[in-house]
Amino acid sequence: MKAIICTKYGPPEVLQLKEVEKPAPKEDEVLIKIYATAVTASDIFIRGSQIPVKFWILMRLAIGLTKPRKSIIGLVLAGEIESVGKNIKRFKPGDQVYGLTGFGLGAYAEYKCMKETDSTYGCLATKPDNISYEEATVAAYGGLLAFQYMEKGNIRRGQEVLIYGASGTTGTTAIQFARYLGAKVTAVCSTANLELVKSLGADKVIDYTKEDTLSPGVKYDFILDAVGKRKSSKLKEVCKNALAAGGIYVTIDDGSLMLDSNRLAFIKELVETGHIKPVIDRIYPLEHIVEAHTYVGKGHKKGGVVITVGHNGK
Ligand SMILES: NC(=O)c1ccc[n+]([C@@H]2O[C@H](COP(=O)([O-])OP(=O)(O)OC[C@H]3O[C@@H](n4cnc5c(N)ncnc54)[C@H](OP(=O)(O)O)[C@@H]3O)[C@@H](O)[C@H]2O)c1
Repeated sequence: MKAIICTKYGPPEVLQLKEVEKPAPKEDEVLIKIYATAVTASDIFIRGSQIPVKFWILMRLAIGLTKPRKSIIGLVLAGEIESVGKNIKRFKPGDQVYGLTGFGLGAYAEYKCMKETDSTYGCLATKPDNISYEEATVAAYGGLLAFQYMEKGNIRRGQEVLIYGASGTTGTTAIQFARYLGAKVTAVCSTANLELVKSLGADKVIDYTKEDTLSPGVKYDFILDAVGKRKSSKLKEVCKNALAAGGIYVTIDDGSLMLDSNRLAFIKELVETGHIKPVIDRIYPLEHIVEAHTYVGKGHKKGGVVITVGHNGK
């Protein structure tokens, strides 16, 4: 099978397309024929080993001390179950699935074996029916991140919610989830993305490249920093002080991403009922992975960047 191999940490050019052996599922594994994967902020951290200092040792122990332990990286996948081991209960051949591979990585390939149960090595669920495999990768990554961190806010109808970094994979999902919960949404992004975030339902938009104050007197019940601690601006600092009494500020870099197939099932429900529409910035073929990593590494993607995999069976 075709796969992208990463044998050392470094710039996008360390990624190489190679022919490798197709995996075979064990008794407790499914074999997934991958139709789409994604280049996420996490993939950029892993490949470039640009891991925040706080997590460096833990992450390097998990993904490989001097080089990636798993030579095929890639965290997100959408595809079809090709075969199942004899102990598999949740899936059967032909099922369309989406999910994350966690520390197992391996999504930059034509095939991947995974367990059907959740662990730090991945989570898998039935893909939403009404979207493409490409869109499903955005729904999985953006949805798991946005839902996990927004659930901490216990957001209720009519509350004021601010999403800082509203145009990325998580931000675009977070706006729509907050609207689903009935909140009034203020979205912060740069000039180029104002129309996009408005189209996703933001009630108010603020350009962090032009404004460094918030309207006087406005307080927020919940603020999500959807870009993480390494990306900031004067406005972000101001936002931190704009909480209403009892309000909650959450940054997406606090804690680790939970791989939860129940949450994937909930995301599927909201996608199928039209509450969440995944936003795709660019789609590249697997062969152009270096280009995709270079683009995502610039840090300004709008929604998700997706990779189609060879036998793409839409
Ligand atoms: N806790 C965990 O386990 C975990 C796991 C995975 C990821 N993460 C975190 O999740 C973050 C988000 O991932 P993602 O893929 O959703 O993000 P992303 O798509 O990479 O975010 C890109 C967005 O960031 C915005 N941005 C860049 N600099 C900014 C700034 N100074 N202020 C405001 N916005 C800025 C850009 O918008 P503009 O072009 O408009 O500037 C762009 O739309 C990652 O960076 C990582 O920190 C956490």
